[in-house]
Amino acid sequence: MKKTALYVGSFDPITNGHLDIIKRASVCYDEVVVGIAMNSKKNHFFTFEERKEIMEEILADFENVKVDMFTGLLADYVNENKFDFVIRGLRATMDFEYEIQMAQMNARLYKHDVETVFLMTNPKYSFISSSLIKEVYSLGGDIKGLVPDGVLKHMEKKKIGEE
Ligand code: COA
Repeated sequence: MKKTALYVGSFDPITNGHLDIIKRASVCYDEVVVGIAMNSKKNHFFTFEERKEIMEEILADFENVKVDMFTGLLADYVNENKFDFVIRGLRATMDFEYEIQMAQMNARLYKHDVETVFLMTNPKYSFISSSLIKEVYSLGGDIKGLVPDGVLKHMEKKKIGEE
């Protein structure tokens, strides 16, 4: 039976840490859906639609990876789409506490068997987050190698557009 996995996040922007998790997940499952979540608690650099376009561009060569967006509860989205697995990346022990809380709450809300799978972030990227990337970039720091080159181009374009 076909196994589908969901990898969720705000991806504002997608980093090489996220990309590494997606690549590794794509060899483990028949289909991986990257679900871009609307997180109203965060100020966004890229709009929801821009993030989807950028993600599709970056993942164009992955045959079994699709991009989607969702609002509201993650568990509702998982229930509606009948995903078998939800993938999360762990960067450090501090991620674990938040992740276990979220996984256990979501497990209560799932209406079918869903396994949450944690992949260890590649140590090359364990110190980065999307917010840190945006902060360093906005203050003129070099973020090359931490985000896909295509993302950097979109960030440059957006920054110029805002000046
Ligand atoms: N490499 C680099 N950075 C990584 C990473 C990796 N492998 N894994 C995570 N990060 C970064 C993310 O970019 C993010 O950075 P930011 O906080 O600066 O934006 C940070 O680590 C935290 O990641 P994550 O926990 O995935 O946060 P998120 O905002 O990307 O996604 C949702 C959180 C969307 C999954 C969560 O808010 C959600 O489920 N929302 C839906 C509403 C809901 O159901 N709520 C109830 C949950 S029980």
